[in-house]
Amino acid sequence: MNNKYAVIGNPINHSKSPLIHRAFAEQEKIDIDYQRILADEDKFTQSVNEFSSHGGLGLNVTVPFKIVAYQQCQQLNEYARAAGAVNTISFDSKMGWLGANTDGIGLLTDLKNNQRLQLKNKNILILGAGGATRGILLPLLQEDPTRILIANRTVAKADALANAFSTAGNIDSCGFEEINTQAFDLIINATSASLSNEVPPVPSSVISTETICYDLAYSDKPTAFTRWSNKLNAKISTDGIGMLIEQAAESYNIWRGFRPDTKPVFKLLRPVN
Ligand code: ATR
Repeated sequence: MNNKYAVIGNPINHSKSPLIHRAFAEQEKIDIDYQRILADEDKFTQSVNEFSSHGGLGLNVTVPFKIVAYQQCQQLNEYARAAGAVNTISFDSKMGWLGANTDGIGLLTDLKNNQRLQLKNKNILILGAGGATRGILLPLLQEDPTRILIANRTVAKADALANAFSTAGNIDSCGFEEINTQAFDLIINATSASLSNEVPPVPSSVISTETICYDLAYSDKPTAFTRWSNKLNAKISTDGIGMLIEQAAESYNIWRGFRPDTKPVFKLLRPVN
């Protein structure tokens, strides 16, 4: 079979990417061979070369390899460059590894198409200042929001990100306790606090009944952040399953020039919705 793709990470067993990409391939009416690759932490480059030399056409890259993928790609698109991370690789016989980052565009597509939120003139609060935040800042700023405020436990990291992206739009930084208390249009949780079932210590006044609360993490059960925002009567409280599906669609489009319809895949992953 020629249409050979995979997702590479460590761990990788939990990845939903094979399910998603096989559903996209069904829509395109092609046979696809999409596998999970578990790579040793120090064998990323070797594993990718092996995959490519065996006819692999494209790779999704997940934790913990997005930064090393960025370092190893010969070409980078603007979102990969801004993110300092690559989640999608295509192989070109002349140009080598082509790195893209579809995480931010995936989030944006979910917000615009599925949550019906336009970001122009909106006030956005992002919690966290790690790789996940860096990965989404450029596409969010390109939508021309009034302001993005990055709040983080370690304020210096929020300051550094706000500085790095200051030419792309109106962006500020602060610690959680310094967040001004007016409500935001959109709050994105980009911390890894949900993984330990915690919510960043943010004043509840940042949420009104018009606020959309979005956790980049996703889980089959509500996350600590979506439970918290739901209790405070946010307009929408959602996890990042939509971002996962939309970033995959964007990767698929890069590889195959075919834009899948994501709606049926939502039903596949969350049958009750
Ligand atoms: P990722 O690539 O997922 O962004 P990361 O780069 O390690 O991972 O960043 C994790 C983010 O979650 C950081 O902003 C971190 O805050 P610090 O910079 O202060 O470490 C934040 N974070 C992790 N656990 C948290 C918690 N329990 N409460 C608040 N913030 C937390």
